[in-house]
Amino acid sequence: MTPKKFISIPKRPRRNRRSASVRDLTRETMVTPADLVYPIFVTEGKNVREAISSMPGIKRLSLDLLAKECREVAGLGIPAVALFPKISDRKKDSLAAESKNPRGLIPRSVREIKSAVPELTVITDVAMDPYSSDGHDGVVRDGQIVNDETLPVLADMAVAQAKAGADYVAPSDMMDGRIGYIRRALDEAGLTDTGILAYSAKYASAYYGPFRDALDSAPKAGDKKSYQMDYANVREAVREVLLDEEEGADIVMVKPAGLYLDVIMRIRAVTELPVAAYHVSGEYALIKAAAAKGWVDEDAAVREALTAIKRAGADIIFTYFAKAFSRSFQVSRS
Ligand code: PBG
Repeated sequence: MTPKKFISIPKRPRRNRRSASVRDLTRETMVTPADLVYPIFVTEGKNVREAISSMPGIKRLSLDLLAKECREVAGLGIPAVALFPKISDRKKDSLAAESKNPRGLIPRSVREIKSAVPELTVITDVAMDPYSSDGHDGVVRDGQIVNDETLPVLADMAVAQAKAGADYVAPSDMMDGRIGYIRRALDEAGLTDTGILAYSAKYASAYYGPFRDALDSAPKAGDKKSYQMDYANVREAVREVLLDEEEGADIVMVKPAGLYLDVIMRIRAVTELPVAAYHVSGEYALIKAAAAKGWVDEDAAVREALTAIKRAGADIIFTYFAKAFSRSFQVSRS
């Protein structure tokens, strides 16, 4: 029999939320430890574990402690680490010469990790700032950041890291043309298997403050706005990503993450490459500070932040919460 008229049936979306098991079945996005990259700050010395006051729970580690740390990271199911060096002031100069030293802190760290935990993916940062007496990501001349003179410095740094065994080199400097320049240098050195994870849409953000404390890498003069992006822009991010893809990037990144979900979403739609997002030091510090005051539940706030970043379209999330998240992930599954 056919109804005489259309009937309006009450719609009840709450049916799919009524129990934990139904919610498990209908959940659209799930972050797992396999999505995460754990950033590690490395420093010279032996048996050094230095606290960073603006990043509670995160330490600078000396090279001899890296193997143990990385075994723990791999044991938690986290597939990758990203290394950042704290370089002493006497090794800094205007051309970041230390950054291409094959026996420098990062190449040594990569070799140490690769021999102790070969299955762990190692990502190295390519930028001048930790090695530069000016604290900028590019060469400074008469107060300007000069693009093309920076490229060979970045390429030498990337080759030194790749020769040491880095799986991905990750240019975070935002100079024009650096992805193609670095790709060619790697290929010419026979390093065709080393990938490039491009910090393609990296914004000039107030949320990098704690990271610069950790590495003592803040610019000595001026700011980074002539190379990092204006946070008001999103079309420009698309342009940067498309250029990096054309130049040979294997993975593209948006940074920071949580305040840039719209950017992640746009980037996801314009490239088929894996998209990474960096949940940066300031985003870490905000949650830590509020949790320390008892104003938010730390674990819940972290899960929500990381899930939102993945929901927006990130395949890979760099986060200082990687270990903490993965520990509670394992507990909640057991
Ligand atoms: C350096 C670099 C920065 C970060 C990653 N690589 C700082 C900057 O650009 O000033 C920030 C990471 C964070 O805040 O967690 N090129």
